Amino acid sequence: MVNYELDGKVAVVTGAGSGIGAECARVLSASGARVIAADINEAAASQVSDGLASESQSVRVDTADPDSVDAMVDAAVARYGGLHIMVNNAGIGGESATIADYSTESWRMVLSVNLDGVFYGTRAAVRAMRGNGGGSIINVASILGSVGFAMSSAYVAAKHGVVGLTKNVALEHSADGVRANAIGPGFIKTPLLDDNLSSEAMDALVGQHPIGRLGRSAEVAELVGWLGSDASSFATGAYYPVDGGYLAR
Ligand SMILES: NC(=O)c1ccc[n+]([C@@H]2O[C@H](COP(=O)([O-])OP(=O)(O)OC[C@H]3O[C@@H](n4cnc5c(N)ncnc54)[C@H](O)[C@@H]3O)[C@@H](O)[C@H]2O)c1
Repeated sequence: MVNYELDGKVAVVTGAGSGIGAECARVLSASGARVIAADINEAAASQVSDGLASESQSVRVDTADPDSVDAMVDAAVARYGGLHIMVNNAGIGGESATIADYSTESWRMVLSVNLDGVFYGTRAAVRAMRGNGGGSIINVASILGSVGFAMSSAYVAAKHGVVGLTKNVALEHSADGVRANAIGPGFIKTPLLDDNLSSEAMDALVGQHPIGRLGRSAEVAELVGWLGSDASSFATGAYYPVDGGYLAR
C-alpha cells in the first residue's frame, strides 16, 4: 500500500462500513489521516473504524438526509479541528427494470442516496474547507457516470449527475483551495454486486473488462488516496475511471 503522506489531515468517508468505502478508510488511515468512518450501518462502520491504523471514529449517517450529513461533518470538525478530505462514497443499486417499468419509489430512493447524498456531502465539505485551508473532495461515481447500462436508469442518471456536480465545484471553489474530482470504478467485487447480480451476470461482466476480471476495492482506494493527497494538487473538476479498460471498448 502506498503512503500518501496524509499526516495531520482529517478525512470523512461515507459508506465506510463495506466494500470500496471500507478500503478508502483503510488507505487514508494507513497514510496517516484521522478518519471518520460514516455509514447508515453503524455497527459495520464501527468495526471498520476499530481496525484502522490511525485515530478514527465511526458515525452513523444517512446520506439521503441533509441534516444527518451536516451533523457528520460538524462532528469531524468538532473532534479533529477541521476537514481536509471528503469521500462521498455511500451508494445503492436500485431495482433492475427498463424505464417503462421503473418504479417512482425506486427512482426516488436511488436518486436520494446516490445524487442528493453526494450534493449534501459536497456542500457540507465545501463549507467546512473554504476559509480553512481548502481540501479535496472525492465523489464516487462509476463507469455508469459516463455510459449507460440497461435496466439501471436511476443509477446511471444519478452517477452522471455526480460527475456534473463535481465539475461545478472546480468552477466555483478552486479559489478557496477546494478541489473536487469524481472517480469511475468499473465493476468491483463488493457486497453491492453480490446483492444485486447473479453469479452468471457477474461472469458476463468479466468479459466487459479488457483486463479480464472484476476490480478489487483496494484498487479503487489507491486512486482515492492519491486524489486526497497533495500529490494530486493540480487535479480538479475531473473524472477518473478506474475500470480495467471497460470504457476503452
Ligand atoms: N461495486 C461496484 O461495482 C461499483 C462500481 C462503481 C461504483 N460503485 C460505487 O461505489 C460506492 C460504494 O459501493 P460498494 O460496491 O462498496 O457498495 P457496498 O454495498 O459494499 O457498500 C455501500 C455502503 O454504503 C452504505 N450506505 C448505503 N446507503 C447509505 C446511506 N443512505 N447513508 C449512509 N451509508 C449508506 C451501506 O451501508 C454500505 O456500507 C457506491 O457509490 C457505488 O455506487 C460501485
